[in-house]
Amino acid sequence: MIDRDWSEWCDEARALLTSNLVRSNGHRYTRPAPSVYEQQWLWDSCFHAIVWRWLDPAMAHDELRAVVAHQLDRGADAGMVPHMTYWAGGGETLWQRPERSVITQPPLIAVAAEQVLHVSGDDRAARELLPAIRSYHDWFDRRRDPDGDDLVSLIHPWETGWDAAPRWNRTRYFNETSDDASKAQRHALVADLVRYDCDALALAQAGYFHVEAIDYNTVRAADLDALSRLEARVGDPGQAALRSAKAARVRAAVRRKMLLSADEVVDLEGLDEKPIGDEGAAKYVALFGRGVEPALAAQLAEELRAIVSAPIHPIPTVPPSHPQFGPGRYWRGNVWPQVNWLVYMGLRQYGHHDIATRLAERTFELVEQSGFREYFNPLTGEGCGSHNHSWTTLVLDMLARETGRVGADPAEGAH
Ligand code: GLC
Repeated sequence: MIDRDWSEWCDEARALLTSNLVRSNGHRYTRPAPSVYEQQWLWDSCFHAIVWRWLDPAMAHDELRAVVAHQLDRGADAGMVPHMTYWAGGGETLWQRPERSVITQPPLIAVAAEQVLHVSGDDRAARELLPAIRSYHDWFDRRRDPDGDDLVSLIHPWETGWDAAPRWNRTRYFNETSDDASKAQRHALVADLVRYDCDALALAQAGYFHVEAIDYNTVRAADLDALSRLEARVGDPGQAALRSAKAARVRAAVRRKMLLSADEVVDLEGLDEKPIGDEGAAKYVALFGRGVEPALAAQLAEELRAIVSAPIHPIPTVPPSHPQFGPGRYWRGNVWPQVNWLVYMGLRQYGHHDIATRLAERTFELVEQSGFREYFNPLTGEGCGSHNHSWTTLVLDMLARETGRVGADPAEGAH
């Protein structure tokens, strides 16, 4: 339980999200931040919907409808949901098409739809979204698992949402020289993706970025679980069984291939399946997808107990001991509110409510010190990146849980 005034924080979140609300072509979405991030981003919108449900469930529904509005309906990538939608056009310089990107982001649409339904009780939106969510997950299986191991392969670091994390420097594609050089490589990679028609197998064989990431795959397992529960409630029971069986296979693959032992958490690179090495805080996100056995979850929770009790603001996405730790450098160890929310939820799903509460408290402290910033310096608590960043309102969702505004989550205690 944390001590914050619910209506005051609702007002703050509402004011921020409303000022970031964009109307376009009969749709409504929330931009991540004014001027820096005007487009719609996939995982941002899922987080926005999770906050909007407390303020305006109709807007939460619209946010999710907008995120799937540009889902591909033909071609090899039919079913893919783009990570960016350019509602006012302008995507052609980078993506060679005006209205969308050619890659995706962490799949949280079913998770968000279920969370919205959990509060609104109105199942129309979930019912309406089901076909899109089904074909999105079918697309992963068809196009993004070239080695058939039940783990999704990513073809660009932007797909993870952790754009510049040092873990990508050890892939064959990226060579770390400077922040600017790695940014230039990320941009240059887009032209190659387009040239290869985003074919994961061909890209892997040609030596491009091709990564099975632990956080991404466990988030996917969580989304498949949420999809299964939505199917059981408002859709097709046959689909419910299929999707939960798939979620179990994804989790088993994570446990088999990514978690070699209790203290060795690895990722796999490319088809040669070379371990990528240290994941930084991404391994804690695996709690959210219930990707780990209870014993390892307990170990990760103990690490997190130390992290939330340390003077450094939690959770640095790269540990301070890492050679590439840069507290103010983009994705080199900063605290990211949406990562904190995922880990907070994962801790609760495994029953570690006390650690989760401490994480919520300390996330609030950052926002109180520095405002709704995009991310934070873990050493000073200083805000970094954009101001008035929408996903930082996720603290409201933490407050709702801490103050018992929502009953046990559908995913809690189910492992
Ligand atoms: C940055 C983040 C990415 C996020 C986007 C919009 O690119 O790295 O995860 O989706 O901003 O907030």
